[in-house]
Amino acid sequence: MSLFDLRKSYELATLTESDVAADPLVQFDRWFQQALEAELEEPNAMTLATVGANGRPSSRIVLLKGFDLNEAATGASGRGLIWFTNYASRKAAELALHPYAALQFHWIGLERQVRIEGTVERTSAAESDEYFASRPLDSRIGAWASPQSEKVASREFLDAEHLRYAQRFGAEVPRPAHWGGYRLVPTYFEFWQGRPSRLHDRICYGLDGQGVWDIARLAP
Ligand SMILES: Cc1cc2nc3c(=O)[nH]c(=O)nc-3n(C[C@H](O)[C@H](O)[C@H](O)COP(=O)(O)O)c2cc1C
Repeated sequence: MSLFDLRKSYELATLTESDVAADPLVQFDRWFQQALEAELEEPNAMTLATVGANGRPSSRIVLLKGFDLNEAATGASGRGLIWFTNYASRKAAELALHPYAALQFHWIGLERQVRIEGTVERTSAAESDEYFASRPLDSRIGAWASPQSEKVASREFLDAEHLRYAQRFGAEVPRPAHWGGYRLVPTYFEFWQGRPSRLHDRICYGLDGQGVWDIARLAP
């Protein structure tokens, strides 16, 4: 089988300027609800791209754990999209240098892609505590056991660290200071709906000088 022959026509839906919400987070919420209703696997898995000290990009998947629909629930710089990770990881080091990132969802079962770009800040300690406390016990221990992004000697090292922290904490695992959330406060959104003949619908949102979202169509 040649990869040249791997292709698919996208026919499920359309997206027009008049369909979309004026507020891109409202539009994101609509599509996210539809991804949930379609029972897509891990609809909250998203690619997070950051920029290293050398100016080069790197990316990995993280799980979206919240987004701010209402003005009331916002970070210091505004409403955004939230994920949790290790503050000593490679991505965290890159975000400390360049607090800008790109997020990307591929909802393959709906023939959709969403791209989001913006500035990144840490969530409040209270937000990180709240989510950390909701995690299963083993995941909370894992946050202590794994020096994320560092080279480790072996699998056995990780298992031994997990056991060590499990014995140390029992059922009461505090959030490590090196673990918490980030919020990307968007400055750009693009909603992509696959269409036949590669003439896909792309509707983007950018902020104008007054902080109002400007909606436009991009060529596919
Ligand atoms: C489906 C999926 C979900 C993931 N979710 C997270 C997450 O929410 N937080 C996280 O730190 N890593 C998550 N990871 C692991 C990251 O992709 C990555 O390996 C890790 O964060 C280290 O990245 P870094 O070395 O670039 O910092 C996930 C991986 C996959 C495949």
